[in-house]
Amino acid sequence: MIRAIYPGSFDPVTYGHLDIIIRGAALVDELIVGVLNNNAKTPLFSAEERVRMLEEVTGNLSNVKIIPFEGLLIDFAEKMDAVMVIRGLRAITDFENELKMAQTNHKLSPKVETAFLTTSLEYAYLSSTVVKEVAYFGGDISQFVPENVKCKIQEKIIKKESVHQ
Ligand code: PNS
Repeated sequence: MIRAIYPGSFDPVTYGHLDIIIRGAALVDELIVGVLNNNAKTPLFSAEERVRMLEEVTGNLSNVKIIPFEGLLIDFAEKMDAVMVIRGLRAITDFENELKMAQTNHKLSPKVETAFLTTSLEYAYLSSTVVKEVAYFGGDISQFVPENVKCKIQEKIIKKESVHQ
């Protein structure tokens, strides 16, 4: 039984993440999408909201589970009995940080390997940060995120605007 973790902030999940989830899930018996609950990062969405959005978009994938975590990724991986961490690599700019994370994690627990999937070309430019910025300035984000996520971002932005008025 190969259980892998695909960790991230997912603030919010994009089509780029979904692409890695679908391809990652096809490679292992069970894929746990680990949603980092880190208040220091002040995300747009709470961990519960990010988990819910991920559950909605992965409902058709029977071997995918969405679980929030706090603290070290490697502790979470060990707790879940996972042998692999999967990360997506978009461009060379991702590589340096990802390599450091993978090597640090391997030092902390040599039992857990990190595997990289190269992001599909059509999503190579995509990030949650860019999606939020486009949405904030009223741009169309339909091609970046699933419909339920698009609605949630728009709701959040409208709420924020009404608080600041
Ligand atoms: O989507 P992100 O923000 O690029 O994901 C980063 C994430 C969650 C994978 C990374 O920040 C992480 O693993 N955080 C948990 C803390 C940890 O284990 N740090 C040591 C790794 S060097």
